[in-house]
Formats: sequence, C-alpha cells, structure tokens
Amino acid sequence: MKRTGQLDTLIIEHSGPLKGTVQISGAKNAALPILAACLLTDDESVLEGVPHVTDVATMCSILQILGMDAAWGDDSTLNVKAQHHHGWTAPYELVSMMRASICVLGPLLARFGRARVSMPGGCVIGPRPIDLHLKGLEALGAKITIDHGDIVAQADRLIGTTIHLSGPFGSSVLATANMLMAASLAEGATIIDHAACEPEVVDLANFLIAMGANITGQGSSTIRVEGVVRLHGVRYRIIPDRIEAGTILIATAMLGGDVWVHGGVAEHLTALLDKLTDANVVIERLIGIIHVQSDRKLKAIEVTTQAFPGFPTDLQAQMMAMMTVSHGVGVVTEKIYPERFMHVPELRRMGAQITQEGANAIIKGVERLGGAPVMASDLRASAALVLAGLVADNQTQLGGVEHLDRGYEHLERKLSALGAKIHREQATANGERTVVPVGVVAATSGSHG
Ligand code: EPU
Repeated sequence: MKRTGQLDTLIIEHSGPLKGTVQISGAKNAALPILAACLLTDDESVLEGVPHVTDVATMCSILQILGMDAAWGDDSTLNVKAQHHHGWTAPYELVSMMRASICVLGPLLARFGRARVSMPGGCVIGPRPIDLHLKGLEALGAKITIDHGDIVAQADRLIGTTIHLSGPFGSSVLATANMLMAASLAEGATIIDHAACEPEVVDLANFLIAMGANITGQGSSTIRVEGVVRLHGVRYRIIPDRIEAGTILIATAMLGGDVWVHGGVAEHLTALLDKLTDANVVIERLIGIIHVQSDRKLKAIEVTTQAFPGFPTDLQAQMMAMMTVSHGVGVVTEKIYPERFMHVPELRRMGAQITQEGANAIIKGVERLGGAPVMASDLRASAALVLAGLVADNQTQLGGVEHLDRGYEHLERKLSALGAKIHREQATANGERTVVPVGVVAATSGSHG
C-alpha cells in the first residue's frame, strides 16, 4: 500500500506573525479506539469529526479485513457497519504500520470469543510493550498465546473482575481502551484500577455509553464497567484534537501573532496553557476556543511529560522546538517515553543548542535557527521540525512527511491560512517536483477511507 506523503516534501520559509482563526480537527487518538469499538455491534455507527489522516485509513483497512464496512460520508463523517462476514485476524502488514491496531484485540475477543492480532514490533519513539493489555485480558478470562509473531486470544466468555493497569511508566491509554471495550460485553462488573484519565479515554467511554454500555468513573483512575448483553449503533461526534490545538498554539507562541483556536478545549490542555503563560504567551480560555497572543519574546521554561492532566508527551517535541528560540536555558524531562528524542539531532542541524542526558534535554535558546534539509522520524518530531523551520532563516525542506500525515489533517494548510510560508511539493514519476495545490486532500488515502 502506498503511504500518502511518502514522496512529499514540505518547503518551509521563515515566517512572520500568525493571524486569524483556525478550526481544530477531530482527535486521531480518540477516533482510533472508537473505530475499533464499532466491532462491538453489527449495527451502523456514524462517526462525526473523524480526521482525514493515514492512521484512520489504516484502522479502516483493518476493520474491512475484520468484516466491517467503513465509508466516508460528508466531509469528516465516517459510516461504519458490519458486512455479512466476520474475521478475527489483524495481519502484520497493517499492524506493523500502526501500533494502535492493538486496540482491536479487546473488542474482537468480547464479540467473537477469539482474536489473532499481529504483535506490534519496536517503535521509533522507544520500547512500547503490550504486557498491560495482555495481563488485563487474561484477568477477564482470556487464554493468550503467541504464535508466529501473532497474539492469539480465546475466551468462551469474559467475566468481570478487578484489573490493575499500572506499569513502570504509569497507566496505559490504549490498554485502558482495550479493557473498557472488552469489559462492556463481559459478564458482571469490572473495576479498572490505575486507569488512564486522558480525554481520549473519556471519549471512548462516552461512545460506549451511547452504544448502551454501563460505565462510570471515566476520567478518574478507577473506572467501573457493568457488562451488558448487547451494544447498538450510534451517531457520535469525536472530541477535537488537543495535540493539533497545542501544536498551533506553540506555533503562534514561536512566530508571534494573534490566533483564535476554535475547537481548542482549555480543560484538555491545562498543562500546556500554564507553561505557555510562564513563557510570556498571553492565553485566553473561552468555551471551545483558545485565544493566543505572542510577541515572540519567550522565556525558557522547564517541562516534564506526564500522564494526563500532566504535560503530554505528544507535545514534548513541539515544546522543545519552542525552547530552542526562547531566552535562557530550558529543560525537558520525558517520563512517558524516555527515548523519545529523535527530533534532537535534526533540531541541532538547524543550529539548536541541545544537550541530551538520558531522559533529560537541556536547551539553550539561540537568537536564530538556520533552515536546512531535515528528515521527520515520527509524527510529533515532524511537527516540531515544521515549527523550527518556520522560525529559521532561509528555507527548510522537510522529508518523511508521511509521518506528519499519520496524525495531522493538513497541518501545512492550516498554518498557511494563518500566514505561515509553507507548502507541499510532490515528486513526479520523472523525478521532478510539483507543488501540491491547496485543494488536494493529500492526507487521505481514498482506497482505505
Ligand atoms: N506501557 C507498558 N506496558 C503496556 C503498555 C504501555 O509498560 O502494556 C508503557 C509504555 O511503554 C509507555 C507508557 O506505558 O512508557 C504509556 O504508554 P501508553 O500505553 O499509554 O501509550 P499508547 O496507549 O500505546 C497512546 C497514544 C500515543 C501517546 C500515548 C501516551 C494512541 C493511538 N496513541 O499510546 O500517541 O503518546 O498514549 O499518551 O492513542 C501520538 O499520537 O503521537 C502517540 C504516540
């Protein structure tokens, strides 16, 4: 399968202040488990606010293999329903593209009593074990073996119990999602202890409740699920993407300007908003809108990533990009993925002064970064390089844009509508490059939508 964005380059020029309004898309990390949860019923569900990103396309491909039909309706609406056959095998080709594929395990097991899901492998942001997923499903009564690199799970019936989801780095977002989905159709009550509190987990719980599940405590570290016999289809709107909103807020802080972020939910971004305020950025928290103003005179800050409501690891790279041009010495401590620093060497190539020791990075702000050809290694690293390119002198060419397209819906178009100088170029068959016109939906893989 061709990954969209694979041959694309983002051409980024030094940009002045951002100005205007921007509409945030639906949250990728809420959409993915919610799409998996559609396996829990044969009925049709209509999901609104689904972002056009390649991870969603990959999840749709997995659902199709598992016997579901996922078809785009108007704009960002996705209609998902069962076809006449069911499957229970998620193959390596798709699971290896996206670790979030693991969240079909819980619903398959709950619905069909069996699942075969390729074991997700290593990952560029560091080790990402799945022990908590397996431990939780075993506690519910599943028998799990590993066969030829696949997780094979079986259970005549799942029975509610107490599940502890705490690992060495805290709880797990997708393990909590898997438990919520499995427990919704289990017999009796399940208590999920040390549950993840992220807004995306709450959104999944709310989706399941709309489908007929009996769940309480979502958003706290103890969730109770009383199993029900059947779930039904539903129409549901996915929450806005707090990481996209955060990325645009940081961009405005760095470039200066005055931007109204529509769909920005301040309660989902408290840790970021507090840090931006510490850095001299003016933030106004309105209902469903965050208003940001910056004069670019940024103060260095210290940031430690933590589970929600702490500072999100998915905004760490972007925040580090901001610190490279702040006044003074900033510190980033990564407590969720201690190896998530792939952006550091690329930022250094642009003139950033960063010293990394284990899970800590010390960033000495510089007056100016210099544009350079740089390569994205993962989703959030690519966003950080976009931001760095926009404040750097001269031109930056960002390759590896397929990483950006996994999770951002047209980030370059949203930034360019706010005044940033950024556009996408695509290599043609004869090796020349052409500018991708703004009207082309580059991040949507039509065959998988
Ligand atoms: N962990 C374990 N055992 C497990 C599962 C996780 O030790 O069985 C550890 C991880 O290695 C990590 C920590 O627990 O150190 C937290 O990982 P978590 O399981 O919460 O991550 P995830 O659920 O796989 C989701 C997001 C990530 C985001 C993390 C943390 C989705 C699809 N992915 O991953 O998003 O970084 O939560 O908030 O929801 C991204 O969007 O760029 C991204 C990587």
